[in-house]
Amino acid sequence: MAHVEEHSGTHSGATGTRRDFLFVATGAAGGIATAAAVWPLVNSMNPSADVQALASIQVDVSAVEVGSQLTIKFLGKPVFIRRRTPDEIAAARETPLADLPDKLARNANLPADAAATDEDRALDETGEWLLMTGVCTHLGCVPIGEAGDFGGWFCPCHGSHYDTSGRIRKGPAPENLHIPVASFASDGVVQLG
Ligand code: FES
Repeated sequence: MAHVEEHSGTHSGATGTRRDFLFVATGAAGGIATAAAVWPLVNSMNPSADVQALASIQVDVSAVEVGSQLTIKFLGKPVFIRRRTPDEIAAARETPLADLPDKLARNANLPADAAATDEDRALDETGEWLLMTGVCTHLGCVPIGEAGDFGGWFCPCHGSHYDTSGRIRKGPAPENLHIPVASFASDGVVQLG
């Protein structure tokens, strides 16, 4: 099982290419600076093959500011890592299950029948962190952050609106945004896979 070490700071020591990437999909200038600070290193003699095969990676999220989102690419798909504001957490947690078209958490870290409460979707107990695969469950477009009728994500392809917990609320997408296997490996470091 290969690992990618993610580092803050410069990438002058990289021996591989910067094929993998981070960028901030939402937020203003502060968010963009964050992305530059956490540019990852992919140390591999053959990154094009190796990155595809990675079973797990670790991502330093310590520089991600509240109200911004980091997007990384993992196993060929975008993964959104959002550090939510108190308002976003409250909105997600106050939503009754009855209002949700998809009542399942879609969280690979929990049993398949776990309910779509925000508590069952957030990465940590406080709910500050939400990590999801950034692929619309309709036909696979990449939703836009901080958009749509519910202040979460909006897929412009056919108009699916996701809330601040990444749950489908309106539009053709049948399921909540999926949550891949992930956890905090240590303070400020998230492990995917
Ligand atoms: S692919 Fe997202 S709404 Fe159709």
